[in-house]
Amino acid sequence: MTDNRVTFGSKLGVILATVGCAVGLGNIWRFPYMVGVNGGAAFLLVYIICILLLGIPVMITEFFIGRHSRKNAAGAFKKMAPGTKWSFIGYNGVLGAFLILGFYSVVAGWTLEYLVQGLDGSLAGKTADEFKMDFEQFSSGIVRPIGWTAAFIALTHLIIISGVKAGIERASKIMMPLLFLILVVLCLRSVTLPDAGEGLVFLFKPDFSKITSSVVLSAMGQAFFSLSIGMGCLITYSSYFKKETKLQATALQVTVLDTLVAVLAGVMIFPAVFSFGIAPTAGPELVFITLPNVFEQLPFARIWSTGFFLLLALAALTSTISLHEVSTAYVHEEYNLSRQKAAWFVSGGVLILGVLSSLSFGVLKEFTIGGLNFFDALDYLTAKIMLPLGGMLICIFVGTRVDRKVLKAELTNEGTIPFHFFNTYAFFMKYIAPFAIGLIFLNELGLINKLSRLF
Ligand code: PFF
Repeated sequence: MTDNRVTFGSKLGVILATVGCAVGLGNIWRFPYMVGVNGGAAFLLVYIICILLLGIPVMITEFFIGRHSRKNAAGAFKKMAPGTKWSFIGYNGVLGAFLILGFYSVVAGWTLEYLVQGLDGSLAGKTADEFKMDFEQFSSGIVRPIGWTAAFIALTHLIIISGVKAGIERASKIMMPLLFLILVVLCLRSVTLPDAGEGLVFLFKPDFSKITSSVVLSAMGQAFFSLSIGMGCLITYSSYFKKETKLQATALQVTVLDTLVAVLAGVMIFPAVFSFGIAPTAGPELVFITLPNVFEQLPFARIWSTGFFLLLALAALTSTISLHEVSTAYVHEEYNLSRQKAAWFVSGGVLILGVLSSLSFGVLKEFTIGGLNFFDALDYLTAKIMLPLGGMLICIFVGTRVDRKVLKAELTNEGTIPFHFFNTYAFFMKYIAPFAIGLIFLNELGLINKLSRLF
């Protein structure tokens, strides 16, 4: 298996598949609502710091593990540290991917509903209040949101079992540039709306008093979520990279594109939020209320809304495939099941989580775990605990178990390409990233406060 492992076709294929995994609902749906509920520009600032100091080193480190071991997320640790407990990192990743898929597919399902509404013209002619009411009515329902969630899981399942890597690579080549183009046009429309400036101030002018430990934890969670790091997805993908793939450059390109899409999504949404008098703190529904309002302001509204939700659904699809792949590959390889059977197990389990997540906006609203509904609890557990924990352990693992020479050889393709900042990278990966993540955790748990009172 190691010798004839499949690899991505081309350099562009590598970038697009990995960008496809990273860019998704996290950028266009989750990022803006996180900015909204966490105080605007202050969150953006902390987010960017997290991307630079934690995101890039962890991503490079995951690429190292994946290509060096050429194994799935759990198998990689078993191969690199046989008989040790380090494989916990892999299991954490597999479980994390499964849980993320449980709530992610609900939102992906919403994009399909909006795609259809855009197509049949039923988004036309509504006021901002009507959009809000309609969204609430739809998402708290039973049949339609669950139906769309199931449809999205089925779509992901189909692609996974037919193994259409070439199809996805080819689709990504058209989809990603198109998504980018539509984003730019919508940004231009949004910033020329009345009172758009207020939205830009909210997004770009930080109020430092808004930076609290929970904002920092949220920004870090968002950075991990958006870059798909900390859970083995990039380990799995990079195990398909070729020997010649430049790991540092790929990590930088993916990070820059991912961050650009997130910031553009903010520029597209916040001016509109303020212009239409919508609360920026609306939460998960923010994008679904704001954007239809913007489309209404454009000529050929139907084309814009259809195009946008189609691309959003496709961007979500490239991410759900990568999430599904992590769990399917694990079940397939570890339990000796056929790929098809493994995919059925994963899809079945995800459907159960998806139904519960979807119902938590309606009939199961009162059912809470630690004060959060089921959907939010899955989101919290994965983004704020499992992904950062995974990232922290990945860095500790490579920092303590891997010979620096081996690390450098892999990251420089056996010395054929330079890595000018290797020492800086290694320092951040070994010391800064794990300690920073650890401190943020301790602070969030209130332990730092307790300790400081002791002294
Ligand atoms: N990064 C994806 C997004 O921003 O939508 C979500 C995601 C995909 C998270 C794959 C984690 C992952 F492994």
